[in-house]
Amino acid sequence: MAAKKGNADTITVTDNRTGQTYEFPISDGTIKATDLRTIKVSDDDFGLMTYDPAFMNTASCKSEITFIDGDVGILRYRGYPIEQLAEKSSFTEVCYLLIHGELPTKAQLAGWDEWIKAHVYVDESIRDVINGFRHDAHPMAVLQAAIGGLSTLYPESKEIGDKDQRMKDMVRLIAKTPTIGAWAFRRNLGRALLNPNPEQSYAENLLHMFFDESGMEYNFDPKIIRALDVLLILHADHEQNCSTSSVRAVGSSETDVFQSTSAGVAALYGPLHGGANEAVLKMLRRIGDKKNVPAFVKGVKNREELLMGFGHRVYKNYDPRAKIVHKIAHEVFEITGVNPLLEIAVELERIALEDEFFVARKLYPNVDFYSGLIYEALRLPAEMFTVLFAIGRMPGWLAQWNEMLDDKDQKIARPRQIYTGSGERNYVAMSKRK
Ligand code: ACO
Repeated sequence: MAAKKGNADTITVTDNRTGQTYEFPISDGTIKATDLRTIKVSDDDFGLMTYDPAFMNTASCKSEITFIDGDVGILRYRGYPIEQLAEKSSFTEVCYLLIHGELPTKAQLAGWDEWIKAHVYVDESIRDVINGFRHDAHPMAVLQAAIGGLSTLYPESKEIGDKDQRMKDMVRLIAKTPTIGAWAFRRNLGRALLNPNPEQSYAENLLHMFFDESGMEYNFDPKIIRALDVLLILHADHEQNCSTSSVRAVGSSETDVFQSTSAGVAALYGPLHGGANEAVLKMLRRIGDKKNVPAFVKGVKNREELLMGFGHRVYKNYDPRAKIVHKIAHEVFEITGVNPLLEIAVELERIALEDEFFVARKLYPNVDFYSGLIYEALRLPAEMFTVLFAIGRMPGWLAQWNEMLDDKDQKIARPRQIYTGSGERNYVAMSKRK
């Protein structure tokens, strides 16, 4: 039955506590939560609020950067489909696109790449800090500390009202995050921290900083370098996810970009977010053999554990990035040899996609389901997977932070609460406590 059309672009709410009726404008499919504050039962009433733990149905900003339609599995950066960017673009070009909003001309891209290359070096004081951590420190914890530590080097970055300063700091972070990420990795292995080589491309330099030894340089297959570049593109932005919202929330206090993005690294560290690819690998190793997959799936259905790398807050269809990662995995394995865990992953996906439990809940593989297998084929340990995610996500965090600072609607992030604790009570002396 077609809905009866009423007054366009407004909603009428009747408060049954008072019988009073209110009319609120609807714009972009939303109403302003603060409009509800006018709904009161008395003059001294605070006004109606919404209760939305985990922001399941709250738009916290307007953004022009990334579009996702999770029901059909669409992801676009600045309007460009992720499939086209993964096929035709480069990671540094995607950084430019996300931050500037348009694809660069040839000259603009050349200038951008040169600018990034000029900033790849990281001050010795950060090297010393990293070397000061325990030899087996988790590289994500090291990355988080070192990204925040960049504030110590660039006090001028406090000038967040200065757009040129902001751009310089964003370039610094795009350039230095791989160097710091590689240092975090090498610290974890107890190896010397190598200097970057600005002559190499972004992904190639990253591989060299991971694996070379002083006086010994590896040769990487161009297909491996390209695969890493595409993985970085796929992770570059994903609108208001947990880490990006953290960057925006921290940045809304007008702290500098290094502190803001270190909050993004902290959020990404968790196993329900960027830490999932590490968790997928551990899960596949624990399953151990294709024949154990049905028993494992049974355990998931009995709520004993989660199927890591499956499910997404936004995608209720196949994550478009997972399709591309699946394809890259096969290309990489042609060079490196097949990872035996791939067989288990493919069987898990096959069984899960046919099972009513997963079908009914619209649980599909997400980007993390296959990315860990590729990283492992590149001989990276599981602790490094999330670091690679952070390197890829940095331009997204930066673009979102930059957009937030120019958004006249934004203020310091400060949610409300529903207080459920005790009413007022008197302090009890220690001798009288039971
Ligand atoms: N395995 C088993 N069951 C799951 C899974 C999973 N991976 N994910 C969701 N479910 C179930 C839930 O138990 C719930 O069932 P119910 O309705 O019967 O209680 C239902 O599916 C809906 O799940 P929610 O937890 O409500 O979904 P939410 O949007 O809150 O969570 C999340 C999304 C955190 C990604 C979740 O799917 C999950 O934990 N996945 C595993 C971790 C993972 O892969 N994270 C990476 C996400 S992608 C990224 O950050 C890059």
